[in-house]
Amino acid sequence: MNTALSWKNERVTTEPCVSRRALLVCAPYYADAQTLQKALSSDFPVQVFADLNLLAANVGDEAGAIVLTEEALLGSVQQLGQALDRQPSWSDIPIILLASNRNRAGKDNSLARRRLPASASNIVVLERPLSAGSLASAVASSLRSRARQFDMRDRLAELADERSRLHTLLENIPVGVCFMDLQGRTVVSNPLYERYVPGGTIPSRAGEQAHRWVAVDSNGHQLAPQRFPGARALRGETVGGIDFCHSSPDNGESWMRVSALPLYDAHQQIMGAAAVILDINEEKQAELALRQFNETLEAQVQARTQALAAALSQLESESAERERAQEQLRHSLKMEAVGQLTGGIAHDFNNMLTGVLSALDLIRRRLDKGQLDGIPRYMDAAQSSALRAASLTQRLLAFSRRQSLDSKPLPVNELITTLYDLLDRTVTEQINLTLDLCAGAPWVLADANQLENAILNLVINARDAMPDGGVITVSTQAIKVCELRAELEALQPGEYVRVEVRDTGTGIPPNLIDKVFEPFFTTKPQGQGTGLGLSMVYGFARQSHGRLAIESVAGQGTVVSIYLPVAQPHQAQDNAAQGAIAPGALQQILLVEDDDAVRMLNRDVLVELGYQVTVACDGQQALKILETLPHLDLLVTDVGLPGMNGRQLAEVVQQLRPSLPVLFVTGYAEGAASREDFLGANMQMLTKPYVMQDLADKVGHLLQGAAR
Ligand SMILES: Nc1ncnc2c1ncn2[C@@H]1O[C@H](COP(=O)(O)OP(=O)(O)OP(=O)(O)O)[C@@H](O)[C@H]1O
Ligand SMILES: [Mg+2]
Repeated sequence: MNTALSWKNERVTTEPCVSRRALLVCAPYYADAQTLQKALSSDFPVQVFADLNLLAANVGDEAGAIVLTEEALLGSVQQLGQALDRQPSWSDIPIILLASNRNRAGKDNSLARRRLPASASNIVVLERPLSAGSLASAVASSLRSRARQFDMRDRLAELADERSRLHTLLENIPVGVCFMDLQGRTVVSNPLYERYVPGGTIPSRAGEQAHRWVAVDSNGHQLAPQRFPGARALRGETVGGIDFCHSSPDNGESWMRVSALPLYDAHQQIMGAAAVILDINEEKQAELALRQFNETLEAQVQARTQALAAALSQLESESAERERAQEQLRHSLKMEAVGQLTGGIAHDFNNMLTGVLSALDLIRRRLDKGQLDGIPRYMDAAQSSALRAASLTQRLLAFSRRQSLDSKPLPVNELITTLYDLLDRTVTEQINLTLDLCAGAPWVLADANQLENAILNLVINARDAMPDGGVITVSTQAIKVCELRAELEALQPGEYVRVEVRDTGTGIPPNLIDKVFEPFFTTKPQGQGTGLGLSMVYGFARQSHGRLAIESVAGQGTVVSIYLPVAQPHQAQDNAAQGAIAPGALQQILLVEDDDAVRMLNRDVLVELGYQVTVACDGQQALKILETLPHLDLLVTDVGLPGMNGRQLAEVVQQLRPSLPVLFVTGYAEGAASREDFLGANMQMLTKPYVMQDLADKVGHLLQGAAR
């Protein structure tokens, strides 16, 4: 060992392992190297080099400290200088220089220091000789400072990592971010922000460019630049999203939402602000599109509603128009029917009245001249005309379903069989009339006279449809009309007999078939048909709770069917037992009639027939007269009277004179359509017009009945 270097042999105590980083030692003298190795290796990892260049080659980042004896600097220090220069910026390796002032005057160790390369800055010079403790303490202190450098390095590395992560985040985040200084100038920003704010200064401070930015609040009101979020943040406010519309000549209009917050320094002084910009262009466009859609939707709905309302009102007006047109059509059809009806009635009545009036006129002239010859002829003519008129009114009443029907159970097959002779006489020789009557001898509820009349009418129609002859079949069938068919057939469900008159005649063209039931509709030549036959049969069938149906094929023939309700068999009245009518024997009759002429004529007829007659013109007068009449055999009264009607009068009179016979004489009376319902005990009805014999028969029957 170099004796120049003497180590005090004392025990070295160092802080336990401050750092395990290598302590690089260079001591060219072997003895020094031994001593240093010995003094330090128990506490520190020591690498000892005899040559400085060798040490320089081993100086890496992880070197803890360098210990040099002054003798190590006697050669070139260049390589050590280069090794120190290669160190990273944070690294400043401590160098402990063990100086030897033994040969120097005083204790100036600056010479030794100056031998170190210029890049060595962290130097501790220790005077030799020194104790092992001092050396260890200096080494420990240097290693601690070196450890702080490593800490700093690690912190810097962490910071660099953090910065890199932040940078990556800022580069890739889909929002614009900026940190600005107090003047609103960008300090740190990401590319997106730079794209939004190319000038690098916030809009409120952007001078000329400011007009490109329009900010609106949540109510859509435009904000002044001092209310922009950047400006407010620089005044210390934290500002939530404010919507901006930015217009640029290149990209047109785009929408963004900007938030900002102030940044403070360590003294709580505002040092700038951070701003975040969110692209809301798509959202705004969608919102705009939605608003436009809503507006157009509203407009569309409104337009559609209007169109619908217009269509509806047009429909309503069309429907009203159609209704009006239909009403007009119905009205004109009605008027046509009424016109046809009244025209027909007027025409036929005029003919008949002319017959009656002319005959009466001639009779008067003959009587004036005292000539009686010819009078019976005129009277016959007048009577024939009047009877035709009577038949006409009868048929009209039948059609209007207001004739007075005497509906009774009838053996319908029997009735037809009895009628056969009359029917056969009515048709021509070329026509073969056959009957095809069902088994079971059914009974129907109907007025016998009217049924006969109806069948006769149908047979005459069939005859007229077969000028060159053919076959007429009158048949009956029992029919059950079930619930289902009832409506179709316009009948109540139940049992019916269908009386059919079938011919092989001309048939009816389809365009006329709907008209044939109309009164006065006829295709027959003037004077041959009145057009009342079918309408009468139709009215009769309906009034009898039945139905009339017609089927026809032009050129083939026609079937007309009368449906009549089935009745229970009924004991036929023995009219024959009543015998001949005895002439009047001055029985007392009270005659009530409001028509003066009819009253006068009826009284004369009754007097003529041999009765005593008292007359009254209404019910009141009749009751007064009744009080003065000690005896009364018969009340003959009109039904349609002013005030109390004939039916009511009959009831009052029968209370006063029980079982007094009553004869109603009526043209047409509401409520008298069904005799069964109308007539009470000891009551009979005679329908106007009638001939004297009819009146004589009815009065005679009633008085005979009362006498029995
Ligand atoms: N069996 C039938 N075949 C062909 N046409 C018929 C037949 N029955 C009725 N018609 C047609 O119906 C019309 C009306 O008949 P309807 O019996 O009501 O009157 P009319 O026979 O002409 O006159 P009226 O019966 O009053 O003498 C007839 O004019 C005829 O055109
Ligand atoms: Mg006819």
